[in-house]
Amino acid sequence: MIKLENISFSYGDIEAISNISLSLPAGIFGLLGPNGAGKTTLMKLLLGFLVPASGRGEIMGQALAEKQKSLRRGIGYMPESDCLIPGMDAVALTAYLGELSGMPRQEAMKRAHDVLYYVGLEESRYRQVETYSAGMKQRLKLAQALVHDPKLLLLDEPTSGMDPAGRKEMLELIRDIAKKESMNIIISSHLLPDIESTCRQVVIMNKGRIVAEESIAGLKKDNFNIYEIKVVGEHAPFFAKLRSLHCGVEEKDQTLFHILLPGDVAPAALFRAAHKTGVQIRHFRQSRTSLEDAFMDVINEANGH
Ligand SMILES: Nc1ncnc2c1ncn2[C@@H]1O[C@H](COP(=O)(O)OP(=O)(O)O)[C@@H](O)[C@H]1O
Ligand SMILES: [Mg+2]
Repeated sequence: MIKLENISFSYGDIEAISNISLSLPAGIFGLLGPNGAGKTTLMKLLLGFLVPASGRGEIMGQALAEKQKSLRRGIGYMPESDCLIPGMDAVALTAYLGELSGMPRQEAMKRAHDVLYYVGLEESRYRQVETYSAGMKQRLKLAQALVHDPKLLLLDEPTSGMDPAGRKEMLELIRDIAKKESMNIIISSHLLPDIESTCRQVVIMNKGRIVAEESIAGLKKDNFNIYEIKVVGEHAPFFAKLRSLHCGVEEKDQTLFHILLPGDVAPAALFRAAHKTGVQIRHFRQSRTSLEDAFMDVINEANGH
C-alpha cells in the first residue's frame, strides 16, 4: 500500500522528516509518536501536499506527488487542523468535499447524508458548521474523509480535542470502519490508548525518524498490569503467594512495591492473597501499563538515554 525509500523533508531549517524508509502492506496501522515527531508531515507527504526534498515513494501503486487527481479519489483524509468552511451546513460541506474528490453531485449528496448519519450527526446536519462543538467537528471531519468511499483512510489525531465520552465513541467508530469496510487505515496519535484500541500494528516515530515498527502484541509481549502497593505486616509469605500466581514483585523502597499482574489475573487476587497471608494493603494504585513502559523505552532509547 505504501512504500517509502529514504524520504526527507524540511520546513526551512527544521528537518521534520529525516531519511524515512517504510513499507506498509494493506491493513490498519497506528502512527504513534509525541508531538513534533513528524506524523502530520508524513501524512502530508503521502497525500502529495508536500513534496519530499529527497528520496522516493509509492502510494497505492503511484509515485508520490504524481497523478494527484486520480489518487485523491482513493484517499480519505481527516486532517488534524480545522478543514471546515464557515457558512456551510454539514450536508452541503460534506457533499461539496465529495465532489472535490471526484463524485457526481447527486451521488455526493446522497452519500453525505449517509456518512453524517453514520458518524451520529444526522440531527445537526443542516446546522452551520461553525456552530459545532469540538467533538461534532471531529465527527464531521471523519464523515468528509469517508464520503467518497476511499481505499485508504488517513486519520490525523482523530480524537483531538474530544472529551472522554466523545473520544470513546470516535474510537468505536474507527473500529467499526476497520471491521466493516475493506479500507486501509492509518491513524496518527500521540496517545497510546488510541492506537492500542484501534490497531494491531504500530509504527512509532520520534524526531522525524521511525524508531520502531511492531505489532502491538510484540510491543506488549510482557502483558502485565502494574500496581503500586504498600503493605503492613510480614510480607514474605504474601509475596511468595503472589509469585505462585505468576505475579512479579519489584521492591521500589522499604515500603513501596510494584506488583506485575498478568493480563488475565484480576486485581482482586491481590487482596485475596493479602487476606490469606495476613497482611494489610494500605495503598493501592494502578501504575503505568507495561505497554506505556515499552513506548517510553522506545522513545528514550531513540533519544539516547
Ligand atoms: N508549517 C511548518 N513550518 C515550520 N515547521 C513546521 C511546520 N509544520 C511542522 N513543523 C515542525 O516540523 C516538526 C514535525 O511536525 P509535525 O509533522 O506536525 O509533527 P506531529 O504531527 O508528529 O506532531 C516539528 O518540529 C514542527 O515544529
Ligand atoms: Mg500532528
